[in-house]
Amino acid sequence: MSHLGDRIRSALIDRSMRNARFDPYRSRIASAAEGRVLEVGIGSGLNLPLYGVKVRHVTGLDPSPGLLARAARRGVRRDLGLDLVEGSAERLPFPDRSFDCVVMTWTGCSIPDIAGAYGEIRRVLRPGGCLVFAEHGRSPGRAAAAFQDLLTPVWCRIAGGCRLNRDFDTLLRHSGFALQRLETGYMPGLRPLAFIYEGVAVPR
Ligand SMILES: C[S@@+](CC[C@H](N)C(=O)[O-])C[C@H]1O[C@@H](n2cnc3c(N)ncnc32)[C@H](O)[C@@H]1O
Repeated sequence: MSHLGDRIRSALIDRSMRNARFDPYRSRIASAAEGRVLEVGIGSGLNLPLYGVKVRHVTGLDPSPGLLARAARRGVRRDLGLDLVEGSAERLPFPDRSFDCVVMTWTGCSIPDIAGAYGEIRRVLRPGGCLVFAEHGRSPGRAAAAFQDLLTPVWCRIAGGCRLNRDFDTLLRHSGFALQRLETGYMPGLRPLAFIYEGVAVPR
């Protein structure tokens, strides 16, 4: 993507993700994180100010230079270590077992090879570590899910690769995770975009 294209896309993502309806999810996710945290698809860093003292260091990864520049400007706790790394979830540039916790918020929908990304996340988690996530995905009703299937090819093109119909429960289980906690339900907003999978997954 061109520099200008990335800057425009970053501004749009930052604006849409600052919506207050995400706030309760962000607070819960940030308070469940601890130790050395990898945030995959950190975007403009909207979770950064929410991490509590249990989190010692955050490594934020994102393919977009424009979003990483925005994350770098985000105010963080003085004693929180922060590294921002340009890269992709399918090929994490980190050694095995290097993080206590991985955080993903509304990122899994945009990663082309999500099973590959979950494999990489398992690799970089230390034994006993966990993935804490909130994602929008496949709705439970048959008609609602069929509508998402119909809309996804077009939506994916206009919304930067976002898929509406991923079933994160099944994807995580098939990628070698056990779900320690999973809550699902609609958040306020457009129904095809609003069914949320929130939880904690641990490598099996
Ligand atoms: C809807 S935004 C969410 C941003 C942020 N997590 C938040 O909660 O505000 C989706 C994010 O996924 C990132 N992304 C897209 N493809 C990715 C990939 N292959 N690996 C890692 N992140 C990716 C995008 O650049 C963007 O920052």
